[in-house]
Amino acid sequence: MTESLQDIARRLVAPGKGILAADESSSTIKKRFDGIALESTADSRRDYREMLFSADTAMREHISGVILFDETIRQSARDGRTLVELIQANGSIPGIKVDMGAKPLAFYPGETVTEGLDGLRERLVEYYKLGARFAKWRGVITIGANLPTPGALSANAHALARYAALCQENGIVPIVEPEVLMDNPNATHTIETCQKVTEATLEAVFNELEKARVDLTGMILKPNMIVPGKDSGQNAAPSEVAERTVAAFHATVPTSVPGIAFLSGGQSDVLATEHLSLINQIPNRPWKITFSYGRALQAAALKAWAGKPENVAAGQHAFLHRARMNGLASLGEWTA
Ligand code: 13P
Repeated sequence: MTESLQDIARRLVAPGKGILAADESSSTIKKRFDGIALESTADSRRDYREMLFSADTAMREHISGVILFDETIRQSARDGRTLVELIQANGSIPGIKVDMGAKPLAFYPGETVTEGLDGLRERLVEYYKLGARFAKWRGVITIGANLPTPGALSANAHALARYAALCQENGIVPIVEPEVLMDNPNATHTIETCQKVTEATLEAVFNELEKARVDLTGMILKPNMIVPGKDSGQNAAPSEVAERTVAAFHATVPTSVPGIAFLSGGQSDVLATEHLSLINQIPNRPWKITFSYGRALQAAALKAWAGKPENVAAGQHAFLHRARMNGLASLGEWTA
């Protein structure tokens, strides 16, 4: 029986669970591997992802879905099972990053638009056959002097909406990710500015989603939290981050959206957990709120593994710990 978009979306934000973003592009994973002095090859990338996806307890108890990169959705583990099968064996849902990256937006210096709409319908049909039941597309919004512009906001929101509609047409739940960056070069903006820009971004995105006739009950929003830019010198209290983040959602996110799953965006892993837990302690949240972390779920595991077969258990242990802490945070139950 085919599962409805609503059922898939609800499973992605099941209590105590969240999403593992393991969809680093080849150039991004190379950067991560450089950090542990490991050469990035198809095999080393496979070994790393296999280590994560076969961490059975972490996957079964805390990871509702995994976002994959095109290469990974086609790879097999050492025992011959596909990585997709490994994920499914733990009751987790395979997903796929379908955007082709943020490219310079013509006539908008310093801003980007995310590409990948051409041929997307056909790619979604193939990804569905490969087992993907949800997808991800990331639009990038940069704060700077006179940025973002309304033109860039609208181009990115429009692309996200066209992507989301194509996903739903093909039985795939779209994760709609408009990321307002906190770690761009010279990110001196304050938390107040982050809130203002995030609200304008989310408003533009939901306007376009509505125009594109996207069913909001069959999607997941993947936003940034409201935090100061990394070069702002501002030190926001975690409780302020939590309050501003939920306030921004109340101002812009329709209550028909079933779930919100955050990106970590460059926050340290522990802080990303603390913020999520505080957010889930604020009363009156009509949406399920959880994690869809990349770096904040993987940093410790990558370091413990360090590319060595004898460290697989240590890597899985580190991954389980962060998955467990974020699982608690998704229930508002994490404590230091
Ligand atoms: P981070 O949590 O590392 O920001 O990655 C999440 C993601 O999927 C970004 O697109």
